[in-house]
Amino acid sequence: MNERAKLARARAAPGRDPLETVLRYHQETKHHFSHFARGPGRLDWANQPDPFRRYEGASLSALPLLKPGDIPASPAYEDLYNPGAIASACMSASSLSRLFEYSLAISAWKQAGDVRWALRSNPSSGNLHPTEAYLLIGHVAGLSAGPGLFHYAAKEHALELRARWPEDSFRRLFQGWPPGAFLLGLASVIWRETWKYGERAFRYCQHDVGHAIGSVRIAARTLGWRMLLLDGSADDTLAALLGIDRAEDFEEAELEHPDCLAVIWPADETTDPATAAVNRLPLSLAPDVLCDAARPIWSGKANRLSRDKPMHWEMLDQVVRASWKSSTEERAVEWSQGRPGVDPGRDATCPYPGEPSAGQVIRQRRSALAFDGTTSISQGIFFTMLARVMPGVERELCQRVLPWDVLPWDPVIHLALFVHRVDGLVPGLYLLVRDPTRVALLRGATHPHFAWTSLAGCPDGLPMFLLQMGDARALAAELSCGQDIAGTGAFSLGMIAEFEPSLRWHGPWFYRRLFWEAGLIGQVLYLEAEAAGVRATGIGCFFDDPVHQVLGFDDARFQSLYHFTIGGPVEDSRLTTLPPYGPDC
Ligand SMILES: Cc1cc2nc3c(=O)[nH]c(=O)nc-3n(C[C@H](O)[C@H](O)[C@H](O)COP(=O)(O)O)c2cc1C
Repeated sequence: MNERAKLARARAAPGRDPLETVLRYHQETKHHFSHFARGPGRLDWANQPDPFRRYEGASLSALPLLKPGDIPASPAYEDLYNPGAIASACMSASSLSRLFEYSLAISAWKQAGDVRWALRSNPSSGNLHPTEAYLLIGHVAGLSAGPGLFHYAAKEHALELRARWPEDSFRRLFQGWPPGAFLLGLASVIWRETWKYGERAFRYCQHDVGHAIGSVRIAARTLGWRMLLLDGSADDTLAALLGIDRAEDFEEAELEHPDCLAVIWPADETTDPATAAVNRLPLSLAPDVLCDAARPIWSGKANRLSRDKPMHWEMLDQVVRASWKSSTEERAVEWSQGRPGVDPGRDATCPYPGEPSAGQVIRQRRSALAFDGTTSISQGIFFTMLARVMPGVERELCQRVLPWDVLPWDPVIHLALFVHRVDGLVPGLYLLVRDPTRVALLRGATHPHFAWTSLAGCPDGLPMFLLQMGDARALAAELSCGQDIAGTGAFSLGMIAEFEPSLRWHGPWFYRRLFWEAGLIGQVLYLEAEAAGVRATGIGCFFDDPVHQVLGFDDARFQSLYHFTIGGPVEDSRLTTLPPYGPDC
């Protein structure tokens, strides 16, 4: 039986309650002090999946390679967070090029001896890059004569035409959206992560989706564009729209799992009526979007990424099936109901040295491989970084602040922080509650001996508490699978999800969204760290239940989903850096 038939059978098979399956998957993919989640044991290097998907036979349109000063020019990094500061760029091949350059493109090649590997603007667990991106877009001069579905080919920085869309079907699909709107779809080649990480890989794919959503949202913002997940759509609709359910195009190729669909549109945030109107737009595509009389005309066959077939993990089939979103909801977002954002205070100016441009910060983003164990950050910078992960609402514009306007659900992730070296703060364990109404809930679920002391100098709207003083460097490293970077930075953290209650409330498909929210927090912090002159690293490897024990959680109401660390980096001088595109790479 081929991979597709197995997936279809897994989806159709009656059996366990999907919620129970998701909870069991989560439980069984935890790392413990005594043993790690099930993985392949040893790495079969000869069978490593290619990180670059191509569609053989699909026509390829190169996106122009832009230099830093070319139009559209990058705004200042701080302006990303100043509503109304960035005028909307026109839709063109150049602006699409920037959108990808700042989100999913190659940002550099690294070389050690004879070995070369690509890094991208978005990070990825193990640098394996499972996330693929697609665009459904109308006519763009120099790229496409009419509406079409394109796959983004990152190695070539080009768009591959997967399907021509009939003009009238395209117009009908976008009815009600502002002019110039287009769709971006993300899908994961789960095998790219299971090759290395086995059963825990499904979690990492979801983290990576969260990072990709964040990187595209922030890249869109550099162009003055808005973006919103059409999160009410069913996964079957998404797979059909992206063409990743087409057996005839994936005969020998590794499958892609549909992740999410987002609408992006050019919008002048201060004057555009669409800003208010978006609060009333439905968040889904109708399931019959492709049942139209005029269907797309497909081209291209997905390439095979590995020499051998993917290794099979039954547990992965089960979680794919259990977290598959079958429902279509016609909800609309209601930002106006949310809480205001953090008040940075009267004398708030750019806290970061040199006032970097957004493009500079995005292009230089890297994961730190090691920290110096001495660099500290100021309290002001620490609070600024944390304010950026607070999903407040911009009252005048009736919308969430960047990038939290992309997620149409209320935040369910809070941060447990191990503060090592922040000037003016005692080292210890802290908690940032991203939704202030959850303080009592978290207080009731954590150890009764925690102090919950409010912090002097903490900006209004940042619900941050000291739980316990103490040197947490060794503990933080030990909890993150013994990785020194969690203890040698200025601070590290665990992202604590309101776990089982969220799954019961939304449904088991929300499991994937929990990781997306965590990945988005990580993406914001990666860029904040670069802007502040330090560096970050996402940490997917941590010992789950020992983290819960430190905090006092004794059931699945709260679970740590992702760790993160920020500090002064130590560069690896043995590595050579090469440009992302052009003759030298
Ligand atoms: C979800 C996720 C989990 C990660 N986990 C770890 C980790 O446990 N340890 C580590 O050193 N790096 C970790 N990283 C960093 C990746 O190794 C890094 O993003 C990748 O090598 C690409 O390098 P770059 O971020 O510099 O582009 C993680 C990154 C992501 C996105």
